[in-house]
Amino acid sequence: MARVFVTRELPFPALERLEAEHEVDTWPGDLAPPPDELRARTSEADGLLSMVADRVDEALLDAAPNLRAIANYAVGTDNIDLEAAAARGLPVGNTPDVLTDATADLAFALILALARGIVSGAETVRAGEWRTWEPAGALGTDLAGATLAIVGRGRIGEAVARRAAGFGMEVVHSSRSSGLPLDQLLGQADVISLHTPLTPDTRHLIDASALARMKPTALLVNTARGGIVDQDALREALMEGRIGGAALDVTEPEPLPGDHPLLDAPNLLVVPHLGSATRRTRARMAEMAVENLLAALDGRPMPHPVT
Ligand code: GLV
Ligand code: GLV
Repeated sequence: MARVFVTRELPFPALERLEAEHEVDTWPGDLAPPPDELRARTSEADGLLSMVADRVDEALLDAAPNLRAIANYAVGTDNIDLEAAAARGLPVGNTPDVLTDATADLAFALILALARGIVSGAETVRAGEWRTWEPAGALGTDLAGATLAIVGRGRIGEAVARRAAGFGMEVVHSSRSSGLPLDQLLGQADVISLHTPLTPDTRHLIDASALARMKPTALLVNTARGGIVDQDALREALMEGRIGGAALDVTEPEPLPGDHPLLDAPNLLVVPHLGSATRRTRARMAEMAVENLLAALDGRPMPHPVT
């Protein structure tokens, strides 16, 4: 029997399988453990079930001599120092595939919300400001015939491309191994959707000069990682009306404080990292994380390792 630290309550059936075999220490409440608590609890653990908000860095690993397995409850692993884990022979697992459709759905929901002013429209109704049917009021963008640029064409980017085909959009992409150079892609897109992991190469990929290449009507959607976009540059571009709008499911930091200056920008929609947030997807992610821990703590390879 090993000891597993689970950094957030996961009310899914898979956790019972973990509890049946191991001693499970779960951080109580809805909020992430503060760094000192994360370190104290992990230092006593053989296994760690971490969330994207938990920084698993070298110092944390040094403080956890018994640790034998890390299962991240996410497909992204930028919260984990993978090199430091590998140097210690520590297996790291994640939860790919099961969240592809949910995240692609959310990206598309944001594209539609931006293109048609769904959120600002709903706000005017609640504010009692819907006075008449206006021939030229709240005009949006047609998706049919518009060009969607997918940046990073992995599983999620591909799933967004499939949805876009159903809406009659032209899809172009840019990735490390195929597609158009990013600069060229940005200049021709009506909608840009980001689907790269966050790495040193993709940090601030969308910076002031990338924003300057976009059409003045371009809509930017980020469901990948906040750090891919230079938020100061985005704020400025929105403030000056240099792009049409932006929708973000991910920000830096997360959570984004309600009084963050970014939120003063017009034509901006921010939602709280909802990409994988459906009942079925989150339950499946829990199954995969538990399978990863059970295997590694039993000395077997993880079924869903980070490669
Ligand atoms: C969520 O952001 C994930 O990486 O699963
Ligand atoms: C976004 O800005 C919206 O109006 O939905």
